[in-house]
Amino acid sequence: MTLDRISDFPILAPGADGKRLVYLDNGATTQKPRQVLNAVLRYYETENANPHRGVYDLAMRATDAHENARAAVARFLHAEDDEIIFTQNASEALNLVAQSWGRAFVGEGDEILIYVAEHHSNLVPWQRIAAERGAVLRYMYPNTEGRLTEAEIAEKITPRTKVVCAAQVSNVLGLEIPVKALTEQAHAVGAVVVLDIAQSVAHLPIDLKALDVDFAALSGHKIYAPMGVGALYGKHELLEKMPPFLSGGDMINQVHEQRTTYAEAPRKFEAGTRNVGGEVGLAAAIDYVNQIGWDAIMAHESALIERAVAGMAALPYVTVYGAASAAGRHGVLSFNIEDVHPHDVATILDSAGVCIRAGHHCAQPLMEHLGIGSCCRASFALYNTAGDVDALLDGLKQVREVMGLGS
Ligand code: ALA
Repeated sequence: MTLDRISDFPILAPGADGKRLVYLDNGATTQKPRQVLNAVLRYYETENANPHRGVYDLAMRATDAHENARAAVARFLHAEDDEIIFTQNASEALNLVAQSWGRAFVGEGDEILIYVAEHHSNLVPWQRIAAERGAVLRYMYPNTEGRLTEAEIAEKITPRTKVVCAAQVSNVLGLEIPVKALTEQAHAVGAVVVLDIAQSVAHLPIDLKALDVDFAALSGHKIYAPMGVGALYGKHELLEKMPPFLSGGDMINQVHEQRTTYAEAPRKFEAGTRNVGGEVGLAAAIDYVNQIGWDAIMAHESALIERAVAGMAALPYVTVYGAASAAGRHGVLSFNIEDVHPHDVATILDSAGVCIRAGHHCAQPLMEHLGIGSCCRASFALYNTAGDVDALLDGLKQVREVMGLGS
C-alpha cells in the first residue's frame, strides 16, 4: 500500500504539534495538490482575460486555456470536445439536462426511472420535471447486499421509460452499478441514460463512449480540482436538439430586438463569463491523476478499503451499509455504531483529528429505504494512508466508551 502523495497536499502537512489531519471526507470534497493550486495561480498571473470576447493576445490565450481544459476533460472521459459543457458542478449539470432535455422531451405519462440511492441532485430536478410534465417517477432498489442488479433494471424499464437516472457509484453505498447493462436496456426502449459520475470520477477510469451513456455529470472538486467547476457530457446529437438552459452573454449567434439565434453546443449552454481558473485547475487535476495512473490509484484505494472493511467487521457494534466486502466498492464506506448518533461519532472522531461526514448525505430516499435517518461515512482519496484507516478504526473503538456504552 505505497502511494506516498500526501506531501503534494499543503493542507495535509503536519501542524506545529507534528500531527496532521486524517481527512476521510473525500466524498464531500477532495483536497487540492500543489500542482493544481499552482496551475490556477499561473493562469491568473499570466493568462487571465475573458475568453471568446477579445481579439488581443491575452484574450486569445485565455480562450486557449478555456478550450484546452475542455479538451483535457473530453480526453479523460473518452468524449469529443464539443460534447463537454462546463458548469459550476454536477448539480448544475444535472439541472441543465432536466430543465433543457427534460422539459423538451418528457411528456405526460412518460416514466422517469431513478435509482433510489441517487444523490438529491439527480433526483429532485426530475421530481420537478415529473410534476411539471405529468410524468411518472419510478424507482429501482438495491438488493440486500446494496447492489443494483441487472434483474432489477430489467424489471423496472418499460416501453414508457423515457429517461433513466443513476449514479455510477452511490455517495452512500459506494458500490459500482452495472452501467453498460443499464444503457443497453434503456436504449432498447428508446430511453436516455443520465449518469452521475461525481463520486466515481476520482476512483476509476471512465470511458463514456464504451458505456454509451447519453449524459454524464461531474464536479471538479471531487477530483482534486477547485470548487465551482464541473462538467456535463452530452451526446452531440442530443445537445444539438436541446434548447439553452441559461441565456445571456456568449451563448448566442445573433440577437435582434424580438428574436435570438443560438451558438452551437457547447457554447449554447455556457452563458456568461466562465470559471476559467477553475477549468485550468480541473485540467491540472486530470493531469495529476493521469501521471499517477489508474492502476496505482485503484490498487492503493482498494487496499485502504479492504483494511477499513476488515477492521469494521471485527467491531460487533458497527453496521456497514452495502456489501461488507471491498469488491466493486469505490471510495466510500458508510456505517453506523449501535446506539450512537452519527453526529456524536463524527464529533468524537474529530477530537482525534479524523474527519468523516455524518448525516443523510443528500440521499434521503436511500435513508428511508435502509430504515435509518442518517449514517456515518468515511471516504478515501489517493493521498490517504493505512495509518489513516487505523486512526479511523482506533477512533471508532473509543466512541462507545466515550458515550458511556462500554467497549
Ligand atoms: N455530494 C457530496 C457528498 O456526498 C457533498 O458528500
